[in-house]
Amino acid sequence: MRLDVVSIFPEYLAPLELSLIGKARVDGLLDLRVHDLRDFTTDRHRTVDDTPYGGGAGMVMKPEPWAQALEPLLSGPERPVLIVPSPAGEVFSQSIAEELAAEQQLVFACGRYEGIDERVIEWAAQHFRVRPMSLGDYVLNGGEVAVLAMVEAVARLLPGVIGNPDSLVEESHQDGLLEYPVYTKPSAWRGQEIPEVLLSGNHAKIARFRRDQQLRRTAQRRPDLLSRLDPEKLNRADLQVLRESGYRIIDGHLLSTD
Ligand code: ADE
Repeated sequence: MRLDVVSIFPEYLAPLELSLIGKARVDGLLDLRVHDLRDFTTDRHRTVDDTPYGGGAGMVMKPEPWAQALEPLLSGPERPVLIVPSPAGEVFSQSIAEELAAEQQLVFACGRYEGIDERVIEWAAQHFRVRPMSLGDYVLNGGEVAVLAMVEAVARLLPGVIGNPDSLVEESHQDGLLEYPVYTKPSAWRGQEIPEVLLSGNHAKIARFRRDQQLRRTAQRRPDLLSRLDPEKLNRADLQVLRESGYRIIDGHLLSTD
């Protein structure tokens, strides 16, 4: 997969040289290039921002360097996806990461200050499939940290990036539920024993225990995820646990009874 990141702080993306993502780059699974937006300015001061029309606080990123930086990235036959990190974007999720992992090329445009001149987005929409994307309902100083998170979430889904692909199957958000708790040796630690069933060798019982934990955890921590579950995918044992956590199926919807 080809990834291009445009930023005024290319050094911010240095962690993408580490760990599994760094190895995927060395192995040729990821062709990740970081571009300095200032290299596409034409003035002596390498200016990338200016004051906002209409007044107001802060500075706005100028359009010209953005078009200069993005245009050369349009080499393939397809319109690439252009991800614009912004607190005003669609909220990034595991299902979006899966969608993006199927692309040939992703381009990330890291805004800073109050954002990028809106005409860049309008212009880019003619050449890219533009996706403004938020990490969540909080404000960062710029898009770089969001890009680190999104690149990691997407790249780990590519074949060969994670050594054991089984570890992608049973993890949080894969089936709309949070992951079950995990334990390792020693079996007793500071007065706490691990749940006995995990020593039983009974795989069906262990699977049931883990599923119960997933459902309980999700009900407690992320009730918003439960309301998005398809009730058709729940069996009797699931419904029993959910009832104990205060949920019932009413008119085909999983609803809290609290
Ligand atoms: N840039 C600033 N805040 C952001 C957020 N919450 N998500 C993505 N990009 C951002």
